[in-house]
Amino acid sequence: MFIYTLVLLLVIAALRQNVSCEANIQSQSFKIINGNEAAPHSLPYQAAILGMDGKFLCGGSLISPRSILTAAHCLDRAGTSVQVVLGAHNISNPGEEGQLKITSTQFVIHKDWNAKKALNDIALVILPKPIETTNTIKWVTLPTKKNAIYINKNGTVSGWGAYSDSDATNISPVLREARIKIISNFFCNIAYMGKITSSHLCTDGLKKQTFCTGDSGGPLVVDGVQVGIVSFNFVFGCSSGWPGVYTRVTSFLDWISEHVYN
Ligand SMILES: *[C@@H]1O[C@H](CO)[C@@H](O)[C@H](O)[C@H]1NC(C)=O
Ligand SMILES: *[C@@H]1O[C@H](CO)[C@@H](O)[C@H](O)[C@H]1NC(C)=O
Repeated sequence: MFIYTLVLLLVIAALRQNVSCEANIQSQSFKIINGNEAAPHSLPYQAAILGMDGKFLCGGSLISPRSILTAAHCLDRAGTSVQVVLGAHNISNPGEEGQLKITSTQFVIHKDWNAKKALNDIALVILPKPIETTNTIKWVTLPTKKNAIYINKNGTVSGWGAYSDSDATNISPVLREARIKIISNFFCNIAYMGKITSSHLCTDGLKKQTFCTGDSGGPLVVDGVQVGIVSFNFVFGCSSGWPGVYTRVTSFLDWISEHVYN
């Protein structure tokens, strides 16, 4: 751990000469790198958020009959409505059995969302009417304890993002997932030069067999409970080995219960 930190500090010192570490989270989308195709419909809480033109915007998660949890930055360019796809595995196949596509015109974006500081990157997309759970569509459980710690736990992050930085323009037709280890905010904060706060949560970016973040807005789930919302990653891209950064769900439990529609 010490050597790991030391190496990172040296790398950071070298980079600092000419790289601005602005997270620049509006202009990026994050992709699962080296993950696996998820077993079809094994993550029935996973949502896709598309523009009205059908263009893929972000991931999200179904947390109640009428609410999709996602990142605030996902809705920055969404206009006044989005399409939400639930129950999908192959997102390129609109005729897929179990898939449901719903248009939403109602968003709740955290009023203190701050793109520059990457703070409060959380939002809800509200569905026009409650949906029923099916074999392919179910909501995910949220944590109950505000002070839960997840360091060293393995989480599952999922999304339809492209799976390499070199081919970052194409989305994956099928849902992909990655198992990834949660690291301490202390260590993450060194890598991000002080940008990480207690309302962030980070996963390891270094191990080859672990992965990058999934699509922005998508869920990080530990033992069936959603603990993170994919927020940002280092400007060099997902395979740079930098930790992935999430909005920490436990920091926003009050905000969620205040704004959620059931
Ligand atoms: C996904 O669906 C599209 C459209 O139906 C199809 O062309 C493609 O082969 C499918 N991909 C996979 C991996 O199933
Ligand atoms: C996390 O996953 C790794 C690799 O699969 C495994 O070695 C480790 O024991 C897991 N940790 C926990 C806490 O389950």
